[in-house]
Amino acid sequence: MLLVIVLLILGYIVLDYARRCRLVFRSGVGTKGPFPLPIVGNLYQLGDKPHEALLKYHKQYGPVYRLWMGDYHCTVINDSNLLKKMLNEHIGVFLHRLDIPSIQYFSHNFEGLGFVMDSDKWKERRNATTFALSKNKTRHLYSLMDSSIEEFLQSMKQHSSTGEPFQPHYFSDKLITDLSFKMCFNVEGRNNVYSKRFRMFSDSLNQIVVDLGAPTVYDFSFLLQPFLLKYYQYVYKHSIEIEAFIDQEYDEHIKSFKPEHIDHPRDFIDTIIGRMDEKYSRDQVKTIVVDLVFNVLAASIDSPTGLIEWAFVYLANNPIIQEQVCKELETVIGDRKLSLSDKLSTPYLNAFIKELQRIKPLIPFLPRTCSEDIEIDGVFIPKNTQIIVNFYGIAHSEKYWNNPREFNPSRFLDSKNVNLDYSIFGIGKRSCVGQFIAQDILYLAIGGIIKSFKVSTLDGASIDDSGNLGLTLKVSQSFKVSLKERILN
Ligand code: HEM
Repeated sequence: MLLVIVLLILGYIVLDYARRCRLVFRSGVGTKGPFPLPIVGNLYQLGDKPHEALLKYHKQYGPVYRLWMGDYHCTVINDSNLLKKMLNEHIGVFLHRLDIPSIQYFSHNFEGLGFVMDSDKWKERRNATTFALSKNKTRHLYSLMDSSIEEFLQSMKQHSSTGEPFQPHYFSDKLITDLSFKMCFNVEGRNNVYSKRFRMFSDSLNQIVVDLGAPTVYDFSFLLQPFLLKYYQYVYKHSIEIEAFIDQEYDEHIKSFKPEHIDHPRDFIDTIIGRMDEKYSRDQVKTIVVDLVFNVLAASIDSPTGLIEWAFVYLANNPIIQEQVCKELETVIGDRKLSLSDKLSTPYLNAFIKELQRIKPLIPFLPRTCSEDIEIDGVFIPKNTQIIVNFYGIAHSEKYWNNPREFNPSRFLDSKNVNLDYSIFGIGKRSCVGQFIAQDILYLAIGGIIKSFKVSTLDGASIDDSGNLGLTLKVSQSFKVSLKERILN
């Protein structure tokens, strides 16, 4: 029996090796890359900071190289021009994302928007979501943005007046979670019972983001995948809790839905109901709403929260830059409140936020699948190759940036860099659908922090800015800062 098992394993390794050689042989230019082991491929070499490992390979193997994520043949793209061609001119070939069990499970079999695999379904969901997140349909959110940010600044004020150290993670997460709930459920004015339910919901959602951010070798091994899917179905209850919660929200919306809500929706759920009601049955609309809301909430909370936390780190670690942004705000805004119409008159604040997004791209890699054999600029990519767009590599490449490890907002005031087509929100038709909302929130929140407070480290020593990669690139460990309220003379 043991002999049969050993022979089966050896047979698998030999066949697997032949399959890898065939793919590598067909890939031509993209064949360079680190040496893979059977079953795990190069996963074992990525360590606990995969963004740094991929950057190291970029320096070693050039702008396009090969990697094996377990059994998956991947091409890593670190070239901005090639990327633009892939995601703009050949979007049909690179539209879809990665097909692995953890994504299949947590996206309810590739439903929602972010992980949809069917092109027609994606187009329909994408149009509906873009419509629901347009300025016209998110007026309720914009009218609440100011008050939520004011509440956030008040919490900071309390800490500065007592001298108690301030924990950015807790308060940034609260700010962004509240805003996202307002966007989807228009919860303003609901009582505390609701806020308790929303907290529980938020904890479950955070747990899913952690689970999804930690794909294991089981996800990438064809042999082990079926067991993983069963394991998820058995162990993880969070997504069931979240589904039940949104289900209930949907029922309450339907009960109170009036014809006028089609043109004047109260929130995201109303807009999707208004748009889908004619085409689908009530049960189908319910399923679509639950999956879309699930997806939009997961996408809209984690990344903006992470960037606000990074803002605290870079403000505390760079006091001279902090004073420069503050000086601009004092001169341009004076003692009134910052508003979105100030964006054009605050170039240095804009540059600070862009530099933050460059040095810590919240989603450092973007997974896409290549749906047919294709050659672009002499790079051949075989069908079914997984594409890893290495935003972190592009953001830290000496080809595009002088001294890329340095935090230097002024680089974005230089006309050479201002128009560089680089965005942490992605490129082309499948780029981030919430990027304008995210940019508005970040502008008001980060500008508000700098205008009202001086942020410093607790003991004069710099806060660790190396970052940890889960689903997004977060600050490595929980940290606190000291705050001093700024009083205008
Ligand atoms: C700092 C904040 C954010 C960052 C860095 C970010 C980044 C991204 C990136 C890189 C993608 C993938 C793009 C691609 O494949 O080319 C994405 C997709 C997406 N984002 Fe965002 N995002 C942010 C905020 C938001 C917000 C606030 C929302 C919702 C209101 C949102 C909703 C989505 C959705 C639904 C998708 C999937 C789009 C699709 O597959 O068609 N994101 N985001």
